[in-house]
Amino acid sequence: MTYLLLEQLNMIQALPDAQRFMGHAKRTKPAEDPSLTHTQADSPMGEAMRLHWQPVCMSSQLNDLPLPVRILSEDLVAFRDKTGLVGLLHKHCSHRGASLEFGRITDKGIRCCYHGWHYAHDGRLLDAPAEPANSPLLQQVKQGAYPVIEFKGLVFAYMGPPAQMPPFPHYDSMHLPDVELVPYAISHDCNWLQVHENLMDPLHAVFLHSRMGEIQLTEAWGEMPAVEWFEKGDRVCYLTSRQIGAHVWVRFNEVAFPNFGQVAGFWEDGLTAKFFERVGASRWTVPIDNTHCWIFGWRHFSPSLEAKGMGNASQVGLNQLDIYGQTGERVYEEMQRNTGDWEAEVSQGPIAIHASENKGSSDRGVVMLRRHLAQGINSTHLPAGSIDGQTPTWTCNVVLHRPSPMASDVEMKLSVPELLSIGRSVKTVILAADCLSPPLRQAEIMAQLQALSKPYE
Ligand code: FES
Ligand SMILES: [Fe+2]
Repeated sequence: MTYLLLEQLNMIQALPDAQRFMGHAKRTKPAEDPSLTHTQADSPMGEAMRLHWQPVCMSSQLNDLPLPVRILSEDLVAFRDKTGLVGLLHKHCSHRGASLEFGRITDKGIRCCYHGWHYAHDGRLLDAPAEPANSPLLQQVKQGAYPVIEFKGLVFAYMGPPAQMPPFPHYDSMHLPDVELVPYAISHDCNWLQVHENLMDPLHAVFLHSRMGEIQLTEAWGEMPAVEWFEKGDRVCYLTSRQIGAHVWVRFNEVAFPNFGQVAGFWEDGLTAKFFERVGASRWTVPIDNTHCWIFGWRHFSPSLEAKGMGNASQVGLNQLDIYGQTGERVYEEMQRNTGDWEAEVSQGPIAIHASENKGSSDRGVVMLRRHLAQGINSTHLPAGSIDGQTPTWTCNVVLHRPSPMASDVEMKLSVPELLSIGRSVKTVILAADCLSPPLRQAEIMAQLQALSKPYE
């Protein structure tokens, strides 16, 4: 034993300086990048987010009691009054600051528990029962309030200056026929950006979801893809192309400035041809404060998306999702043995430190996304136009017969340039159809992709 210890010590001391243990040298960390990660009032990223509609809670969370919510480091209270109107008010009463989470919901608003001041959903002071009926306070006092829209089980708020309020974003994926949108909300104990940028990191699926533990989705995810990332308007996107035997599976995902993202269906195995099968989940990554965030979104269910019967809408909701590893509610040992997205992202720290990273070619999407966000803060990216009231999105799975004019050998591997070229053909077809109305567009893209898919004899 002593001999072994001496051997170890000798080996350590024999190391050249550059290879010595670096723990002590690296024990202190640089600071985070506040320009992208901080979102409190008056921060650059926070003000950019306030110029967009943001989900703040699920409709199902609003019952006969007020709901305290913290969004973008602001303490707020959401409630549904007895006529059904939803209000989102500053949490602390304008009288002397008691929290409206202890208020009473009324026919027309909410009444503070302390002295009964009564606020409408838009923050008007309706009455103050301890004051004379002609009190000037009734005209002077306004409780801070934000406009709210409820859509498909999520409550969205606009927290920016009223004069700059944009239209509510109607992405085409919110209006597809035969698709049910099931709302969900998952809290994360870390900064919003490291959760959001996971969406532009397709290589993690090969390792985290496939090779590092149990297979969490399908075997096809473990195949190393050829990846192309690109920026267009307010989006950052990627296409992954994987050869699965006689087919090529192309997956097209996107994020839109500042914090929206979509991913294609989860259960693709790449074994049968498929043309423009759409979104598996749409989501916003919404800061609670600088070290906590929500994912609010919808799981999309349709007969074709769930043909394998793997999804389960009854497991989608508040802090639950029917995809492995998306919440922090598993036992710790399971998180260690079969790690999911939630713990990988949260374990990057309360706010991931960009200056400590050693990024490689596989991180291109993350680098592109950060640059896109930084540019968007300074000159907001123009949102894409809409056709028939819907903004076209591109997220999809496409599975083509592998083009094989000469080789009938299914095992012969396509090269990375060949895979990239197939991905680019898919991208060209999909982007070219943006100008078409939604039903025409779907049919046109499917026909064009079908023409690209060439089964060999
Ligand atoms: S503190 Fe709210 S009514 Fe007095
Ligand atoms: Fe993931």
